[in-house]
This record gives sequence, C-alpha cells and structure tokens, in this order.
Amino acid sequence: MGADGETEDGAALLVASNRGPLSFTEADDGSLSASRGGGGLVSGLSSMGNGAGTTVWVCAALTDGDRVATRRAERGRLDLDGHDTGGLAVRMLDIDPRTFQRAYNAIANSTLWFIHHLLYATPTAPAFDTHFLREWDSYRDYNRAFAEALAADAAPGAKVLVQDYHLTLAPRLVRELRPDVRIAHFSHTPWAPTDYFRLLPDQVGRETLLGVLGADHAGFHSPRWARAFAGCCAELLGAKVGADEMSVTYDGHTTNLGVHPLGVDADSLRARAAESDVETRLAAVREQIGDRQAIVRVDRTELSKNISRGLLAYRELLRERPEWRGRVVHLASAYPSRHDLPEYREYTATVQRLAAEIEDEFATPDWRPIILHVTDDYARSLALYRVGDVLLVNPVRDGMNLVAKEVPVVSERDCVVVLSEAAGAADEFGDHALLVNPFDVAGTADALHRALSMGAAERTERAARLAEISTRLPPDRWLADQLAALG
Ligand code: G6P
Repeated sequence: MGADGETEDGAALLVASNRGPLSFTEADDGSLSASRGGGGLVSGLSSMGNGAGTTVWVCAALTDGDRVATRRAERGRLDLDGHDTGGLAVRMLDIDPRTFQRAYNAIANSTLWFIHHLLYATPTAPAFDTHFLREWDSYRDYNRAFAEALAADAAPGAKVLVQDYHLTLAPRLVRELRPDVRIAHFSHTPWAPTDYFRLLPDQVGRETLLGVLGADHAGFHSPRWARAFAGCCAELLGAKVGADEMSVTYDGHTTNLGVHPLGVDADSLRARAAESDVETRLAAVREQIGDRQAIVRVDRTELSKNISRGLLAYRELLRERPEWRGRVVHLASAYPSRHDLPEYREYTATVQRLAAEIEDEFATPDWRPIILHVTDDYARSLALYRVGDVLLVNPVRDGMNLVAKEVPVVSERDCVVVLSEAAGAADEFGDHALLVNPFDVAGTADALHRALSMGAAERTERAARLAEISTRLPPDRWLADQLAALG
C-alpha cells in the first residue's frame, strides 16, 4: 500500500474528467499554490475522497502552473493532501497544447457541446471539412492519453468513472486496454435527439456512440437524455435497446443506462453561504434592492443558458405590465466562461448591450431596473441566492442546472423558481417550479409576473418542496449510486 492508499497493483477506483479538482499557479519565485478548480463536476466529485483512500483522479493539466506541478511530481502523480481533495491522488496529464486546444475547444466545446445543447444556427453551421477531421484526430489522441493513464493506474477489477463529453471515446479505449475493469460514463449534458445528432459526420457520430458503449454503465441526469442516447444507438448503430429503454446491447456487450439526478449538499452549501464574504456582499445587494422585489439569475456566460431571452422577457414584463416599474430589480450575474471561443465573447457583448437597452428604456433617477455583473464573484452569487424573490433559470437546454437546486436550499425569501422545461431539473421539480418554454419570451414574462404576484402561503409551500427535492441525491450519494450500478 502506497502513501496515497494504493496497492502495488494500482487504484481500486479512478475518476477521469477534463477539469480536475485543483488548479495550480506558479509564483515568480517558482513556488506553486493550489486552488480548487471550477465547474459543476468538481463539486460532484470532491466528496468522494472521504474515506476513499484508493482513488486516483485523472485530469488534464490546464494552466502553466498545472504543467509545472505535473513535471515536478513523482511518477506524474501529485500528492495533494492538504489541498482539499480529501486524500485523493491526482494525475494531471500534460497533453500537447495543440492537441489539447483542438480536442477541448474545437471538438468538445464547439462541436459536441453544440450538438447536445442544440446551439447551431443551421443555415450556416456546422460545416465539417477536412480541418474538422484533423481536429477529430486530436480528440481521439486526447481520449487515448486518458485511457492509457487509466489503464496504467487501475488495479485488477478496478472501477473507472469517466466524465462527460470531453471523454466519450475513453470508455471503449480503456476496455480495449483493460478488459478486466468496470467502466461507467456519465454525461453531465443533455443528449441530442437523433435527428440533431445526425448533423455529425456519420463516422464521428458512430465513434462517439461506440465510445460510450464501451462502458458497462452510462449515466445521465434525466430520463430524457438517457432515452435520447438509446434512440441514437438504435437508429445510427442498429443497437438493441432493452424493453425499458434502460440498456443498449451492441456487438455482444450490454451497457446499462442509469438516471442519477445530481443534487445539493445542503450542509456545506448553507455553511458557505453564511461566510463573512457573503455577508459583506449581502449588505450591498440589499441596498440595491431596497424595498423592491428581486428577480435574480446566476449563470456562466454560456450560449445554452439563454441569458439574452431572459433579458428580453424582463423587458417584456416591464413593457406589458407597467405596474412593476419601480417595484422590481433584476440582479443578473453572468460570469465569464470559455472566452477562447469568439461566439462566447460576442454573447457576453450581446448580454451587456441588452442590459444597457433596458436601463436606457426604463431607469428613473431613483430606480435602476437591472444590475448586471459579468465578473466572477462567487460570494456575490451566493448573496443573490439568499435574497432573490424570483430565480430565473431559462436555458435552451441543460443537463441538470445546479443553480436551480442550490437557490431553494439557501433562500431566505421562499424564492419562486421560473425554470426552463428543457433543463434536467424540470423532471424533478415539475409544477413546483413555474415551467417555461425557453424560446417563449412572452410566456417567460408571464411566468415572471406570476412569480412576483404569488401569495406568501403558496411561495412557502413551493419553496419547501423544491428544497426537499434538491437535496435528495447529494454528491456523495450520487457517486455511491453509480458505483453500486457498476456492481
Ligand atoms: C459545465 C457542464 C459540465 C462541463 C463543464 C465544463 O459545468 O455542466 O458538463 O464538464 O461545464 O466546463 P469548462 O469550464 O471546464 O469548459
């Protein structure tokens, strides 16, 4: 048994994701400091270190500091004890930067993410040319690097948990290298409907499906995404789908499908939301709201989050129902994301322009109708969670949407949730939230009006139900369920 709890033969449990639990920064004097990495995935997985001494987390080195740390680490594995990983050993892969950029930006973020969230403006995009095929080759190489690291580190019969659309090919590659291990893949995104998935070149679509089918278990946040995946396998591969649509058999191998709707760890979120930096922000936010109601939203500036139609709906509310002017404030936090991609930079500009238009149209000397923040300030986001009267979550499509589940857990005002029916969370919330079609701006404005007008008793009842639903499957149980499903 090594210092990190591994046996001589390797780890009994391995996790693979593009973004790992930590990110390193190198100071001028060469010293390294670590901070917790971002992304919903990290909160889901960081709990698994508790008591799991034989876990290795394989991820990509993303920053210059990560690469330095990786080169310095013995055998490429970082001893990260004391860095809030709960005793996990982390192996960061120092992937060739060009290969990484193509795999991460061109394929994962600009192709697979767009496919699963239905983000293409199809009259002009996508256009898959020879250059794209080279990018796809890099995606293969990137997946192979992960598969080789996992295969090298896994103990006989180990369990391997592969995360997300960055790593759809890895399950099959691991199986080829190590037929003895048990493999799960989890999609944190939605899965595209078959006709939309068919936008991918045939070979790329097939390879993606076959990659995931290399796993013994494929997990999703919503039964809708699991069914969509099964549908793609049936139609594109001719695979056999089980009568309950919860298994897919292809070429003699069966992949069971599972629905594991990730929820919130209430204790740790409440503790974090009570820290002094949140209290400080709270005072300022309360001042901005005054005695008005607050519609809040907190998102990455991400095309799928539909922030622009959210702003249009708020403008519609103020135009069509003037009684709300001066009585409501929209506090929107849209923090930066994936700014290497031009579409994302343009989207941020669109969101800022729309907010400015609303300000111009409605602001009075003693009322600011909208306060938009485009910087990353987690403490401020948590302050908004606590004081919002209405939460607007209206994604075009979303695997789950954890903000929708976090707000009910810390809300002090029985926050009403206006939620897109295309978010995974809508499956569980149902009519306890006010569900909207994310493209229906007028319908979303109506739902905002209904939420703002709702009586206290109904708000309290709904808020209690939402908080209960949101905490049903906290990250540790979410993981335990998947491990149990692997047998
Ligand atoms: C969101 C998605 C995850 C994804 C992550 C990647 O959190 O829900 O499915 O893994 O984004 O974000 P990144 O910043 O690493 O590109």
